[in-house]
Amino acid sequence: MRLFTRIGLIALAALVAVPIGSAQQPPGLDVPYVPTPPEVVAQMLALAAPTKNDVLYDLGSGDGRIVITAAQRFGLRGMGVDLDPNRIQEANGNAKQAGVTDRVRFVRQDLFKTDLRPASIVTLYLLPRVNLELRPRLFEQLRPGTRVVSHAFSMEGWEPDSVVTVNRNEGIGSATVYYWVIPARVAGTWTLTTPEGRRYPVKVQQQFQRFTANATVGGRSAALTNPRLAGNQISFTLTDSVNGRRVTRQFSGRVTGNAMRGNVAGGGAWTAAR
Ligand SMILES: C[S@@+](CC[C@H](N)C(=O)[O-])C[C@H]1O[C@@H](n2cnc3c(N)ncnc32)[C@H](O)[C@@H]1O
Repeated sequence: MRLFTRIGLIALAALVAVPIGSAQQPPGLDVPYVPTPPEVVAQMLALAAPTKNDVLYDLGSGDGRIVITAAQRFGLRGMGVDLDPNRIQEANGNAKQAGVTDRVRFVRQDLFKTDLRPASIVTLYLLPRVNLELRPRLFEQLRPGTRVVSHAFSMEGWEPDSVVTVNRNEGIGSATVYYWVIPARVAGTWTLTTPEGRRYPVKVQQQFQRFTANATVGGRSAALTNPRLAGNQISFTLTDSVNGRRVTRQFSGRVTGNAMRGNVAGGGAWTAAR
């Protein structure tokens, strides 16, 4: 076979092998266009549990289906960004047809250059490498409690808070959906004040939503047990001494920047400052 014919066949094979709509895709995309099936969109939104007060960002928004479905079903506001102008045009047309143009916006923009701070829900259908590259931006820019949902791909060391398998409607296998909540930053040294006014230094080490902590109680180091962090909601169990009796109590509360405050099971308020 002549050389140019072979090259032509290889190029054709590559084109056929690439996903839907990709013949018109511009160069420089980090991910090719493959739409999320409706049943998977429904599951992504079920995990995020949107309300009308949420702001949903879909990074690499394709034909806009996730943002548009969320705006239609939950009345929220949303934004989609995509580098492909054809996808933006298509998404705007779909938003018009769905009657949600007052609540959604589609912008031709690189997802890595997008200001994520307004989002309270972020949806992704990207690739493992792209998720990982995006991860530091999610932690830098999103507020604690923001929900992140990814179709098909995880975030390596950032363990998901939930993973759901969705059976595809056409009976062609299944899809996996990953869900995380951005945790508050709790690492550092805190001073915990108990309802009785006792003060304990507490050292906290954190990895994503997991943390371990040690308090110095009566000159001894005591681990906080059952540590749990969900967005800015924190809880742990601490044993200390109240009126000369050792008591083990559950502390639960909320983290706001360098302060925590909450209640102790059984009564009384606690605070902590970093
Ligand atoms: C797998 S599709 C997902 C589409 C849509 N989110 C969905 O789930 O149906 C990925 C989309 O990301 C877009 N994309 C790829 N790299 C991008 C980048 N750096 N910034 C913005 N969009 C990008 C592609 O054009 C494509 O539409």
